[in-house]
Amino acid sequence: MPGQATTVLGIETSCDETAAAVVRRDADGRGTILSTVVRSQLLEHAPYGGVVPELAARAHVEHLDGIVRRALAESGVGLAGIDAVAATSGPGLIGGVLVGLTTGKAIAAAAGMPLLAVNHLEGHALTARLTDGLAFPYLMLLVSGGHSQFVLVRGVGDYERWGTTIDDALGEAFDKVAKLLGLGHPGGPEVEKLALSGNPSRFAFPRPLLREARLDFSFSGLKTAVRLAAEHIAPLDDADVADICASFQAAICDVIRERSRAALRRFAETLPGMPLQFVVAGGVAANRAIAATLAEVARDTGARLVVPPPALCTDNGAMVAWAGAERFALGASDPLDIAARPRWPLDSPDMQVRAHGA
Ligand code: KG4
Ligand code: ZN
Repeated sequence: MPGQATTVLGIETSCDETAAAVVRRDADGRGTILSTVVRSQLLEHAPYGGVVPELAARAHVEHLDGIVRRALAESGVGLAGIDAVAATSGPGLIGGVLVGLTTGKAIAAAAGMPLLAVNHLEGHALTARLTDGLAFPYLMLLVSGGHSQFVLVRGVGDYERWGTTIDDALGEAFDKVAKLLGLGHPGGPEVEKLALSGNPSRFAFPRPLLREARLDFSFSGLKTAVRLAAEHIAPLDDADVADICASFQAAICDVIRERSRAALRRFAETLPGMPLQFVVAGGVAANRAIAATLAEVARDTGARLVVPPPALCTDNGAMVAWAGAERFALGASDPLDIAARPRWPLDSPDMQVRAHGA
């Protein structure tokens, strides 16, 4: 209920993590994670070098019930202590989304409690309020396996997308580069590790769109340049692979640095007088070179940088529970026949919070 403390069960199944969590939101807006359980499907997908949607959906079917049960037990409050259930209803791999959303609906119907159909991206966008109590507005850079975007977060349900990728997501670019170098999946951590011992200036890879004013990203040309360089010097020894990783990561960091500066400039112009607040979300935020680049941008621009802990940057149930709790506190809930959505941009008009019955 608005104005009261609420405890929300959150369910996340939109990609390759099966996750559930219980989060409490106090009446003053402070959040506490009572439990969070995440099962990664890395092993199921490893032989294929990427996420296989049908295998992902089957693994969610197999494991979600047990994970929800564990999250409820570990929270110490059990189902009786839950006020509402939140489930990711998009965007994502539709088979997986259906598993989580249907489970959320079933729990809501059986226990007679409200349902919140959560946009997965809103989960990422609001996490900094759960971890750091951040006030609106702030700029978010979301960099994951499926998304690379700048979003102005004005309030719950109130987002402006300022730039996105016109081809690959950043995590996807890391994964594809890793694959073409024969490294494991997911590629980001592998590339980061090898880059540490490589020479970042051996290959002058392109910095896509760097000179353009818009805030969009493009990574497919960079990926192609990496492939051509690798083919040119093949067969590759360990030092070659490390140099390619380091040079690739250096190009990424340059792009992130310039784009983030430009996005913060736009923030200052759009919201004069507002403190510059910059949040990073998504699995790629775990990359230390990228994190260091963002810290440097924050230092230079005077922005406050918030990077949630890695376990809350990657997909998890707590972010879904929290987004549900934030919406619920504003009086929102969703009907039990709400549809799962493979695509659902954060700035769609239906993201706005409509109080139930309004
Ligand atoms: O947010 P996430 O766990 O899942 C979604 O895509 O929603 O992000 C996973 C992505 C993968 O592409 C992975 O390679 C990338 O994040 N990633 C990294 C690092 N750790 C994970 N990329 C670069 N450096 C890392 N250390
Ligand atoms: Zn995600």
